[in-house]
Amino acid sequence: AKDPVRVLVTGAAGQIGYALVPMIARGIMLGPDQPVILHMLDIDPAAEALKGVKMELTDAAFPLLKGVVATTDVVEACKGVNIAVMVGGFPCKEGMQRKDVMPRNVSIYKAHASALEQHAAPNCKVLVVANPANTNAIILKEFAPSISEKNITCLTRLDHNRALSQISERLNVHISAVKNVIVWGNHSSTQYPDAKHATVTTNSGEKSVRELVADDHWLHTEFVAIVQQRGDDIIKARKLSSALSAASAACDHIRNWVLGTPKGTWVSMGVHSDGSYGVQPGLIYSFPVTCQKGEWSIVQGLKIDEYSRAKMDATAEELIEEKSLAYSCLNE
Ligand code: NAI
Repeated sequence: AKDPVRVLVTGAAGQIGYALVPMIARGIMLGPDQPVILHMLDIDPAAEALKGVKMELTDAAFPLLKGVVATTDVVEACKGVNIAVMVGGFPCKEGMQRKDVMPRNVSIYKAHASALEQHAAPNCKVLVVANPANTNAIILKEFAPSISEKNITCLTRLDHNRALSQISERLNVHISAVKNVIVWGNHSSTQYPDAKHATVTTNSGEKSVRELVADDHWLHTEFVAIVQQRGDDIIKARKLSSALSAASAACDHIRNWVLGTPKGTWVSMGVHSDGSYGVQPGLIYSFPVTCQKGEWSIVQGLKIDEYSRAKMDATAEELIEEKSLAYSCLNE
């Protein structure tokens, strides 16, 4: 039998955490033959709730779950973890702007970075979910310099999956037939969902989504807007932000990263920019990536038209601003 993998979930008593931990314990993140030990971190006000989650995990009698650490101590939470899913953070409440919560999140991600740097297993893979996800990941990278930049990523897979689902509805095909959409840039309203390279598998082979939709105007306007606003629509409907779809996307992200992407398929991940597609090096920017042997690489050579170029630059601009705002909080 395989040795268990230690998976950290921060903010584990929150909504995404509550949906995510049973998925991990069921093998949805790492596969049905991979035992896991869950490390759950939350803060003092949520300590009782966290205990409750631990009790439920025990009661669920998951065959793959070999242990549970539930704690409010960051060091204990990070000890020996192989995978870290960072969901904990200070939320942007109604009437608040991103810049109001930046100082709080910068100090949280600075502290979590140091704990991971000192106590996580070597080669630990990190996924930041909490918003502002790309910029929290930059801070984490800054304060965990011994963790390879290749191992620090942020979640844009939910946006990617939303883009797949919009194409599937528009073309009336099953979602499993659609692939290779791209979400470029920031996990925010400036993200650029791009279906110009996407394809649909049909009985007569692979067809280009662009040809099947036959309407660039729709791809440039409604499609982009629906994907960008989907999170807000869910908040309106549920009075809470997306949780089960976010948890599922986090599992998809880690599973593809660790176990690989199918041949001919790419996915979107927020990763360290090496300057590909003219994106400023050092930003954490969402790119199309393929994964093999536990490593992602950015898909190269896609043709970028003028429309896409402008959208990709606008979201990069926003990330550059967020980054400088975050660094200015460090100096306060
Ligand atoms: P939530 O408020 O239900 O849960 C957050 C949890 O984090 C709470 O239990 C809170 O006590 C905990 N927490 C706060 N500070 C902490 C700290 N310093 N250490 C450990 N835990 C801490 O929020 P929800 O709905 O679970 O969302 C979590 C985050 O994920 C939010 O920032 C949200 O904006 C983000 N999100 C990101 C998505 C993405 O696609 N990247 C999609 C949906 C949500």
